[in-house]
Amino acid sequence: METPTPEVLEKLEHEALSSINAVTDLTALESLRVRYLGKKGLLTQQLKQLGKLPPDQRREAGQKVNQSKTTLQELITQRRDELEKIALSVALLRDSIDVTLPGRGSASGGIHPVTRTLERIEQIFSRLGFDIAEGPEIEDDFHNFEALNIPEDHPARAMHDTFYINSQALLRTHTSPVQIRHMQAGEPPYRVIAPGRVYRCDSDVTHTPMFHQVEGLAVDEDVTFADLKGVLRYFVREFFEEDLELRFRPSYFPFTEPSAEVDMTCVFCHGKGCRICQKTGWLEVLGCGMVHPEVFRHCDVNADRYTGYAFGMGVERFTMLRYGVDDLRLFFENDLCMLRQFR
Ligand code: DAH
Repeated sequence: METPTPEVLEKLEHEALSSINAVTDLTALESLRVRYLGKKGLLTQQLKQLGKLPPDQRREAGQKVNQSKTTLQELITQRRDELEKIALSVALLRDSIDVTLPGRGSASGGIHPVTRTLERIEQIFSRLGFDIAEGPEIEDDFHNFEALNIPEDHPARAMHDTFYINSQALLRTHTSPVQIRHMQAGEPPYRVIAPGRVYRCDSDVTHTPMFHQVEGLAVDEDVTFADLKGVLRYFVREFFEEDLELRFRPSYFPFTEPSAEVDMTCVFCHGKGCRICQKTGWLEVLGCGMVHPEVFRHCDVNADRYTGYAFGMGVERFTMLRYGVDDLRLFFENDLCMLRQFR
């Protein structure tokens, strides 16, 4: 180790100053500080060498070392300030946010058109005092057929294209069994609608193996066919927000007598006749009738005291008519281009 002669100190200081000026990052600067001013740093060591100098030179050399230390310390502090400022502006630039840029927005989902229709139907019937009833999608033969006056050998069974799970259990082919469950569970009067999924082993342009129905049931003393007509007329007009006419055509269902199929004025041509209504001006939308006494008997309802009406409608059909959708399968393909229109 060289003794701290003025030349040595001069050289050391000069070397240190130029390295500090040249340094460009804070870690390198800290290494330089340790190298010169640290406990074992080059200048610190120079102080320890003072004893090796002739006594008359020690005082001056000591002062010189301390001066160098102060100079270097000041320069390091100054350089650190500069480097910190630079680091800060780099960080600010990198992390800056342009608050004037347009936002990304958040995508919102929508309610499926069939669900919308279900909700709409429920709302309208709620206003008329109907409650919502539910039943299982896996049904038994008794509720789906037998109690609805469709015995084992009845030809109407063939129209139902039933998915059987085993000899006892099946996927309900309509929501009518909910009538039975509701009547068995309590005393009249009854005034309910039963919305839900139903299943039939059928698949083509106008049929899907799963679809939705809403069943309606009103039972009380003195319920008449006129009540049925009034309720359905109100419902159809509310649903389509138009003064549509209804037409009741005699029909047959095992669980109602008399039974009718209901047509309404075609919403596309307003009765003039078009492709959709096959030039008739009418669209078939519902099945209905007065509850058959045999059905009451299965549910222990006194058919001498009570009368009632029932109706059933396809939810997809109402959705197609309301929104002008002409292919049933669009409801189940989950194509976003289609579904986005219902946001
Ligand atoms: N259950 C029948 C079907 O699935 C629809 C129906 C027609 C229900 C007439 C009724 C009714 O309650 O009275 O096709």
